[in-house]
Amino acid sequence: MTNIKVYKNKKQAYQDAAQKLIEIIKKKPNAVIGLATGSTSAGFYQCLVEDYQKNKTDYSKVITFNLDEYYDVDEKNPISYRYFMNEQFFCKVNIDLKNTYFPKNNGDKKLNSENYEKLINQHGPFDFQLLGLGVNGHIAFNEPGSTINQKTHVVNLKKETIAHNAKIYFDNKEELVPKKAITMGISTILKAKYICLLAFGKEKKLAIDFYKTNQIDANWPVSFLHTHNNCEIYIDELAN
Ligand code: GLP
Repeated sequence: MTNIKVYKNKKQAYQDAAQKLIEIIKKKPNAVIGLATGSTSAGFYQCLVEDYQKNKTDYSKVITFNLDEYYDVDEKNPISYRYFMNEQFFCKVNIDLKNTYFPKNNGDKKLNSENYEKLINQHGPFDFQLLGLGVNGHIAFNEPGSTINQKTHVVNLKKETIAHNAKIYFDNKEELVPKKAITMGISTILKAKYICLLAFGKEKKLAIDFYKTNQIDANWPVSFLHTHNNCEIYIDELAN
């Protein structure tokens, strides 16, 4: 069962979602958290950083797993998700970088996928999983056509995803966007104890509209969240 929370402005949504995570960390300092990247997630991290500066919430024992990473992109490359996370969040709080995991994104695709899944199972289930939403309804990099049983795997990105990411991060130059990524699967994501999805703006409305029909359909991977019993979707009026 999913609860959709509609906000007049996204700042309040970010604050409520961030507060939910902060409370979890206060109760369980070694919480295990699944994290997302993207322009939407950036606002969430900003709230966590502001809280850290004010209240010194302690991240020293927190363990994080990122959802996905472009394939064959070095972590020092500013387009990598590791770089994004370091810049937006990890380097601004007292998290131990050794406790921040990403899937290995070069070499043997099957082995890297299996190893990440194993590592997740050793530490998980996640106490909190953050998700953004693709314009085509993807979650992490589980593009339309993904199935509910998939674990971590390597994917070819769909053209709508490449176009969206080009617009936000690559000055509209699609040729610069990596075409492959390694991502947690839907089944990996659904194991989390709590899922928080953030979706703002009119670009996300189509996927949210489908979600609201309560149908579960692989063409809209976000709809698999209907099978989770503790998931909240934070949206603004534009996405509603
Ligand atoms: C990428 C990430 C997704 C994220 C999406 C949303 O595709 N792999 O995990 O949900 O971006 O991006 P944005 O928040 O920029 O719209």
